[in-house]
This record gives sequence, C-alpha cells and structure tokens, in this order.
Amino acid sequence: MEMDSHMQKVLPTEEEDYDRAKELKAFDDTKAGVKGLVDAGVVTIPRIFCLPPEDILSAKLDDHHVDSFQIPIIDLKDIKSDPDAHTEIVEKIKYASEKWGFFQLINHSIPQDVMNKVLAGVHRFHEQPNDVKMGFYSRENEKKVRFTSNYDLYQSKAASWRDTLVCVMAPNPPPPEEYPFACREILMEYSKHVQNISQILFGLLSEALGLNPSHLTDMGCMEGHALFCQYYPACPEPDRTLGHAKHCDPDFLTVLLQDQIGGLQVLHQDHWIDVPPLEGALIVNIGDLLQLISNDKFRSVQHRVLANRAGPRVSVVCLFSTTHFQPSNKFCGPIKELLSASNPPLYKETLIKDFLNFHCSLGVLNNHDCALAFLRL
Ligand code: OGA
Ligand code: NI
Repeated sequence: MEMDSHMQKVLPTEEEDYDRAKELKAFDDTKAGVKGLVDAGVVTIPRIFCLPPEDILSAKLDDHHVDSFQIPIIDLKDIKSDPDAHTEIVEKIKYASEKWGFFQLINHSIPQDVMNKVLAGVHRFHEQPNDVKMGFYSRENEKKVRFTSNYDLYQSKAASWRDTLVCVMAPNPPPPEEYPFACREILMEYSKHVQNISQILFGLLSEALGLNPSHLTDMGCMEGHALFCQYYPACPEPDRTLGHAKHCDPDFLTVLLQDQIGGLQVLHQDHWIDVPPLEGALIVNIGDLLQLISNDKFRSVQHRVLANRAGPRVSVVCLFSTTHFQPSNKFCGPIKELLSASNPPLYKETLIKDFLNFHCSLGVLNNHDCALAFLRL
C-alpha cells in the first residue's frame, strides 16, 4: 500500500532504507571521529547518533535543575596538619561515597598549571591533522595507546558525540615514544600527579570503610591506570544526542578533570544533577569494582555528558583498575573484613578480566546496571 508523504515523516526510526550497520562502518572507516564530521561542516547529525525517541523523552523529562542538590565538595587543605580535619574528611568521603558515588575535590595539590597543560595537550592531540591522528585509530582493547570514537560504537543504541584517546599508563606502560607526541610529556607528568592523589584517596576510602588505610592499595586497586582523553566537539543538534551516554565506570575509582564548559551530570535520587565546573577541582567517582568489593557500601552511580552547541569540551578521565585489558588472573569479590552474619556477600568472586569483557560485550555504556547485576548472588 502506498503511504502519503505525511505518513512517511512520522514513521518510527526503524525505516527499511536505514542500514545502521553500514553507516556505523562507514563512519568508523573514516578514522576521523566526530571531529571529522564537524570539520566537514555537518549541520544535522547523522542518524547513527540520534537517540531513540523514548530516550529523548526521558532525557527531557529529567531535564530540569534541582537546585536543592549539590554534589559534595571535599577540601583536603588541612589534611596533613590537623588530625581533626583528617577525621572530618574521612566522614565526608564516607557520606559522599555512600550517598552520591561522586564528589569534587579541592586543594588536592595537583598544580593548576599541570591541569591547564594536560587539558591543552588533549586539545592538541585531537586538533592535529587527521593523517597523524588516524595512525592511532583502533578498536583493539589490548592496545595501550589508541584513538577511537565511541568504544561501544557497534553495541550501543545511539553513538555519542565524542572522540577518545586512551593511554594506558600503568602497569607495564608502553615505551614513551608510543604516546602521541602532541601530549606525551604532559600525560606522563599528569599521570604521576594523579597517582599521588589517588594514593591519598584510596587511604581515605579504606578508612571510610573502617579498614586499615593501606587496605585498598594493598589489594592492588591502584596498580593500573589509564587516561581517557575525551573530546566533545561542538554539536549542531544537541537535543538529539548525548556527549557521553549514561553509564557507570568499570573500574575501582575514577579521577576526572573537566574544562570550564560543563555538561557532566550525575544521577541522584532519580534526578540528573549538574556537576558544575569548579576552577582547580578534580571530580572523583566510585567505579563498579569498588561497589563490588565494598559489598554495596559505596555506590557506582550512573552519569552522562550532554551534547552542547558550545565546544569543543575536553576532559581527562583517569580510571584506576588492576589491568586495563592486559592479561591478568586477578580475582575480586567483597572484602572479607567487611562481611558478617548481618552483612553477607552480595557478589561472587570474579576474574576482573571476565567482568571487563562482560561489560564490553553488553555495550554496557548504555545499558549499565546489568554488569554488576550479573555477579549478584
Ligand atoms: C568517562 C566519563 C565524563 C566526562 O569517561 O567515563 O564519565 O566529563 N566522562 O568526560
Ligand atoms: Ni564515566
């Protein structure tokens, strides 16, 4: 039966002439990422990026500001000099990790200059000529240095308006020459700083769980870390897609540095709450693996990044985990010292690499709750 042109416009998105797989492949094959589209002057976003109508609807419904909520801010200023301040900081971290899974950290001792330079380095990498960047383009998780657009491109319902440079910094870093020249030095310098601050954070988190301060580091929680250098180009139709689809992080802990543009939001009591840029601050969030070993005491919380007409926005996201897809036979399960008759284990022991593979295979960045749910006893 013939349909009139009006009917055609209101057809659902699954039209027969839309070969999504083919369009994804064509985009992937450009190896130029979302920035390549923007450079080519697109004024409407390709269909592979469009959120399904029901997701747009729920994004809109949530899209109001809830001023009464503010993500916790933790100030480390007096942590060394004042024992009372130390105790208070542990209490605040405990509250933030239990109730929000997120906090902003100020007076953390990473110099402002280093933070500015690493953000500038991320701009330099993504804004260099395509032929240099393309050499890094890959979808192989095992690669320690890779440029990609949407790690879950082929699994997610809608692609996000974002490109990423991933650099594994530990353990077993690649020879320094393998990091892109545009940001090599500053990534290595930032990595040392972020490692120092995480040593402090894992100590405070251990105490907040009622454990010996070295417990989480002794378990190897910060043995490995990778930097995800995110680049969110300006988007001509920000209402139709996201910069980063909602997800939880598949690591123990994430330390995130964002620029001044904004767009990061955290799900809190069923509301999307802005994480406003705060000069000099780092954002810290609990990952799935820490929720798992803390036996749900600490929460790994969904977050997302809105697309924006302003941009590009950049962020440097440091994920602490044991291995980052390198071969490893580490297990993780709820910490024995936390368990009791009234607090039985909620998760089974699991190989970390199996957890990560499962995470990826689900395209979990869009579909997140499943990854931890799968391990629940
Ligand atoms: C991530 C993430 C948010 C941001 O990379 O896991 O949540 O602000 N990024 O870039
Ligand atoms: Ni994240």
